[in-house]
Amino acid sequence: MTQERKPRRGDVCELTIERFDERGEGVGRSGEYKVELRRALPGERVRAEVSWRRRNTLGARVLERLDPGPHAVPARCAHFGVCGGCSFQSLDYAAQLAGLHALVARAFAAAGFGPELEIAPVEGAHELYGYRNKMEFTFGNRRYVERSEPEGVDTSFALGLHAPGMYSKVIDVSACPIQPPALDAILATLRSQARARALEPWDQRLHTGLLRHAVLRSSRSTGEILVDLVTSTDAPELVDPYARAVLERHPEITTFVQNVNTRLSQTAQGERERVIFGPGSIVERLLGLEFAISANSFFQTNPAQAQRLFEIVREEAGTNGSERVYDLYCGTGTIALVLAGGAREVAGFELAPSSVADARANAARNGIENVRFVEGDVLESLRRESARADVCVVDPPRAGLHPKLLPVLAALAPRRIVYVSCNPVSGARDARALCAAGYTLARVRPIDLFPHTPHVESVFALERAP
Ligand SMILES: C[S@@+](CC[C@H](N)C(=O)[O-])C[C@H]1O[C@@H](n2cnc3c(N)ncnc32)[C@H](O)[C@@H]1O
Repeated sequence: MTQERKPRRGDVCELTIERFDERGEGVGRSGEYKVELRRALPGERVRAEVSWRRRNTLGARVLERLDPGPHAVPARCAHFGVCGGCSFQSLDYAAQLAGLHALVARAFAAAGFGPELEIAPVEGAHELYGYRNKMEFTFGNRRYVERSEPEGVDTSFALGLHAPGMYSKVIDVSACPIQPPALDAILATLRSQARARALEPWDQRLHTGLLRHAVLRSSRSTGEILVDLVTSTDAPELVDPYARAVLERHPEITTFVQNVNTRLSQTAQGERERVIFGPGSIVERLLGLEFAISANSFFQTNPAQAQRLFEIVREEAGTNGSERVYDLYCGTGTIALVLAGGAREVAGFELAPSSVADARANAARNGIENVRFVEGDVLESLRRESARADVCVVDPPRAGLHPKLLPVLAALAPRRIVYVSCNPVSGARDARALCAAGYTLARVRPIDLFPHTPHVESVFALERAP
């Protein structure tokens, strides 16, 4: 690409990918321009065609992969490159962790933190495959045909994952290596039995058909397995024999439920649920506590790393048994329950009524009496609280803390705020605002809960200046 004029659409350049960004896109340089490319990994050398230019940034698409670079490893998944779910499978794990560390460091530097802030190495996972305890598969009648598939393949039925950017098309997933292998066999039976019975998959354009989703959940500690079949109507005359056929072939399934979603929106949650077999939930054990997980409960999807995350939160909270702790955005209360053993009392704050119900049930299940859960918007709930907290844990959604919550939190003046962040950019921005309100931050501890993806969690404790 000549540098005499500004680059434009259609220009071709060669470059080496230096890093990935928070969307997982490869980033390199061509002359004075930053170049962003999909499906290009650090270390790789590519020939690319410019698609757009915005100030000093170019968007480009890979035309040819010239050299895979020093970090390339074979991807394990047969659908890699098509599915888009775990786009870093072909990048060695050390390079993944280095890339995640760089993402966190860049976010905090961009928010104004200097080199005195320690960004600890990313705590990597020990299990790089088979780690996910929940997968949501979709039934569809427009199968995405992969290049490897024979010509003339039947495209009228698929059970798998959406092809990226093609929402109505479904990749027929034969196996998903990030879920435990036992679930691949169940997925295959769900497919073969649906086909044998000529059960119709949901048509996303015409809104016809019965089968919408198959959600598979498993417990790492107890081995229990839950199958959640999401359908468009009740149709017990079709669903029950189908479920029985799957259960007969898989005695390892401990719960089979049906969720009915009559709405047009493609969510795997139904308006009503029917337990066809088993207790309706599975039990997971983490840090000596038991959690019941039903089809629609939120639970961290990587239990091994979630356990480590909660240990880090406990370390950073550093309680000695005398404190009042608030767990803001507490979800199903896992952090609140983990901290309850080391605190005088804990209050969890959460918007979703179903999560609050799960949190209360989990507290009762574990005989924990020094916790309470407050249902409602965290900002409104906190304004009504008269008691002060010694330690606040916050685990907000990706957008970070609500801007109006920052002054409320600062006025609450806990001596320590433990922030659990799933988005380094919003986490760093909120950390900067809390530092402006009188807190100090010394260290950020990132942890990888989702190997092969650009997602990274970080835990950091903000101390109120004396
Ligand atoms: C990242 S999750 C927290 C997960 C939780 N720590 C756990 O392990 O179960 C964020 C939670 O914030 C809740 N949430 C989002 N907006 C909220 C609000 N305005 N007030 C209270 N909770 C909210 C969501 O329902 C979700 O459960």
